[in-house]
Parts: sequence; C-alpha cells; structure tokens
Amino acid sequence: MKIGIIGGGSVGQTLGAKLIANGHDVVLGIRTPSQAEFDKERSMADTISAWMKKTGGKVMSFAEAAKHGTLIINATSGGISLDALKQAGAENLKGKVLIDIANPLDFSRGMPPTVITKYTQGTSVGEELQSAFPETHVVKAFNTIAAAVMVDPSLIKGEHDLLISGNDTAAKKTVSDFARKEFGWTSIVDLGDIVGARGTEHYLPLWVRLWGATGTPFFNIKIVKS
Ligand SMILES: NC(=O)c1ccc[n+]([C@@H]2O[C@H](COP(=O)([O-])OP(=O)(O)OC[C@H]3O[C@@H](n4cnc5c(N)ncnc54)[C@H](OP(=O)(O)O)[C@@H]3O)[C@@H](O)[C@H]2O)c1
Repeated sequence: MKIGIIGGGSVGQTLGAKLIANGHDVVLGIRTPSQAEFDKERSMADTISAWMKKTGGKVMSFAEAAKHGTLIINATSGGISLDALKQAGAENLKGKVLIDIANPLDFSRGMPPTVITKYTQGTSVGEELQSAFPETHVVKAFNTIAAAVMVDPSLIKGEHDLLISGNDTAAKKTVSDFARKEFGWTSIVDLGDIVGARGTEHYLPLWVRLWGATGTPFFNIKIVKS
C-alpha cells in the first residue's frame, strides 16, 4: 500500500519504520526536506538521515507525502496540524482516509503539558481537520498510546484497547483492519463520530500523570464491563 505520513517526529518515524518493514511504500513528510533538516537533531527521535539509513525510507515535503499516500497519517504537533495539513493540500487528501494521531498539547510552560485552550472549548483537532477537509475521512486513532506501543501492542501484557472515532463507518473499518493486520491490535473500541476525538485528546493530561505514577510510558486503557 502507498502510505503518506505527515510528520517526521517520534510517531512518524516509528510508524514509518514498521510499515516499511511490513513491505509498504511509505513517504515521510517534513516541512522542509533539505540536507540541513535531515541532519537536524530531533527531540525523542532519530535524525531524518539516521532514519532513512536505518529504514531505506523516503522523505519528502508534506504535500508530496500526502500526494503519494492512498492512506494518510497525521503525525504532527496538534497545535499546528491544521496548518501542516493545509500545506499537504486538500486536493492531495481528497477521498482518502486520514488517521489523525495528533494531540493538542502546550509544552511552553514545561512539563506537564496542558491541552491548548482552544481545544478545550467544544472542539478537537480531529473535528477541526474533518471540518477543514470535508472530502477526507478523518479517523482519530492511536493518540492515547506511546509510539512504540502503537506498532507493537504486545509490549503491554494482556489485551488492551485501541480507541477510534470518526464519521465514516467504512473509514473506521479500514483503520481497524489496518491496526489489526499491520500492528496486531485485537481490541478496538469505536467511540462513535469524530466528536469522540475530544475525549481521547482530553485524556492526555491523565496519560501524562499515569506515566509519572507508573514510571513507564508502556501502559494503556482496558475497558472493563459488568
Ligand atoms: N510521541 C508519542 O509517543 C505520541 C503518542 C501519542 C500521540 N502523539 C502525538 O502525535 C503527534 C506527533 O508526535 P511526535 O512526538 O512524533 O512529534 P512532534 O514533535 O509533536 O511533531 C513533529 C512534527 O510536527 C511538525 N511541526 C512542528 N511545528 C510545525 C509547524 N509550525 N508547522 C508545520 N509542521 C510543524 C514537524 O515538522 P518538521 O519535521 O519539519 O520539523 C514534525 O514533522 C503529536 O501531536 C503528539 O501529541 C505522540
């Protein structure tokens, strides 16, 4: 499958590496695909040069990555995801499934981050993207899980849940099938329409606290019913 990943940080690199290893034709998109950017040190991620050497993967602009993919993954900082996807181009996203992993976190006052105020006022990145790109099928998924666990849920013992939301039933099936086949997810909880993104994005302050409390980012939610 041709996959375009918008964002070259920890999430983009981790998903890209796994999907290339699985045999997919992946283009990773960054803002400015230049040698200086490829060699730039990145927080919590390899340089792009090191990633390309390790994976054999291709790195291009946001627009080229989006044009390439029949499936698109948004792995940019939530506060700028709308801008990044506008750079990717509505025409390159049209008719495609977009997996939105972004969280709108503000690290400007250090740790712990807060949810950017705009996204606490009755909206979410997922909704904003769906509204800006009505001909794209946005599915919020994977944003409640550390990058390494997204591609290898077996890092956590026992069954645990992948939470998804989106307006298009067929797109959610595509993403669920993709998560099962590519990464081995077994339990997927559908939260309903894209408004469900508010819940998962607003979970992040608790996720950060749980990271501190458990001492590991390798944990997840399991919904237990009576
Ligand atoms: N890290 C995790 O384990 C994890 C887990 C769950 C969800 N998430 C979410 O996944 C997303 C990606 O996280 P991440 O840690 O991989 O990377 P990140 O540092 O949050 O985002 C990296 C990407 O955002 C782009 N970017 C930053 N500022 C920009 C701007 N002003 N305009 C356009 N693009 C800009 C960067 O472009 P350049 O490449 O050009 O610099 C880069 O590609 C975030 O929303 C995060 O909250 C992360």
